[in-house]
Amino acid sequence: MKKKIVSVFGTRPEAIKMCPLVKGLENDPDLESVVLVTAQHREMLDQVLEVFDVKPDYDMNIMKQNQSLTQITSNILNGIEELLKEIKPDMILVHGDTSTTFAGALAAFYNQIDVGHVEAGLRTFDKWSPFPEEMNRSLTGRIADLHFSPTQSNKNNLLKEGISEEKIALTGNTVIDALKMVISKDYEFGHDFLDNVDFENEKVITMTAHRRENLGEPMRNIFSAIKRLVEDHDVRVIYPIHLNPKVREIANEVFKNMDKVHLIEPLDYVQFANLQDRSYMIMTDSGGLQEEAPALGKPVLVLRKETERPEAIEAGTVKLAGIEEERIYDLASELILDSNAYNAMSNAVNPYGDGHAVENTIKAIKSYYKL
Ligand code: UD1
Ligand code: UDP
Repeated sequence: MKKKIVSVFGTRPEAIKMCPLVKGLENDPDLESVVLVTAQHREMLDQVLEVFDVKPDYDMNIMKQNQSLTQITSNILNGIEELLKEIKPDMILVHGDTSTTFAGALAAFYNQIDVGHVEAGLRTFDKWSPFPEEMNRSLTGRIADLHFSPTQSNKNNLLKEGISEEKIALTGNTVIDALKMVISKDYEFGHDFLDNVDFENEKVITMTAHRRENLGEPMRNIFSAIKRLVEDHDVRVIYPIHLNPKVREIANEVFKNMDKVHLIEPLDYVQFANLQDRSYMIMTDSGGLQEEAPALGKPVLVLRKETERPEAIEAGTVKLAGIEEERIYDLASELILDSNAYNAMSNAVNPYGDGHAVENTIKAIKSYYKL
């Protein structure tokens, strides 16, 4: 009898990292794959589903403009139970640390369904940062029956929390599987603006910023540092801006009338991954970019106070720049002006696996069910 595995996700990064796994589950003769999206994100989720050609079996369509954490969590909990009763899965797979992740895991627990946690064991050990992700992933870790850890240090975090070793599989991160599917040297963007950027001769900085704990003063500091960079140096900044209206408001205000800071709409994953590949460097508060850019040999300045992804910092391609204007400006200026500093950070390193995370995850699920 096939085991029924339902993948539950709802935001852009979860979709990017879960779609390759969904494809793998669909192709396994011992498993039945069901996809349930909460649609915590709408447009940004749909962009990913289209790229990977994944068609959800169930779509909860919960997104509201300016939604609160309570709204997301309670709407998922309220709506998902009926669907789980209909689907009757053996296991729910959730990913990472969003509200969808935690609410999905909690709903599975209430309905006594096994939980597999993909991208398990990342920690900053500060419950307020990133907010609410650190708590979402820690609580999901308490609930999960099977943990898929991208790196040994993620696995060690779980072991220290008392999780037994046979419940943890060291898999690598499925983002590397995803990246391998979309990067190509002769790729053409099919995008009016990007097709006319001279990536060979210009220093292009790709940036993203959206974290909840950075909204307000920290984000203003970050944007002010970027503004000074383009005023003082010969660089161009491309910022595909998150659809969160709170982020857009600050960005539109600080970057008003700046012709070398390009605020563009969110790109689809193929476009964005290839934009990273052609950029000079990356400045971001995103989690996923800290994994992708090192694999592409691009220096990353992380616009946060901490990171749950220390591996690429240890390897030397990522630096924690913080949220203060002066330090961000200084670190970025150094990378723009000093080729030795740049070369030291632009070696391709990939602590996040060899692109076989999907295979490893499916193997662990099958072994759990003795298939
Ligand atoms: C969420 C996750 C965060 C993840 C991020 C990735 C939580 C609490 N946060 O944060 O961990 O890093 O996604 O992007 O789970 N919006 C749209 N269309 C979209 C997506 C968002 O209009 O396709 C707008 C809506 O007004 C929405 C707002 O953005 O209310 C914020 O979305 P939300 O999912 O609540 O938080 P994120 O900051 O995106
Ligand atoms: N990304 C994308 N289009 C964009 C910006 C980012 O496809 O315009 C991808 C990026 O390659 C990465 C993921 O989205 O895989 C990161 O998602 P996000 O920044 O929303 O969330 P986080 O990584 O911070 O959780």
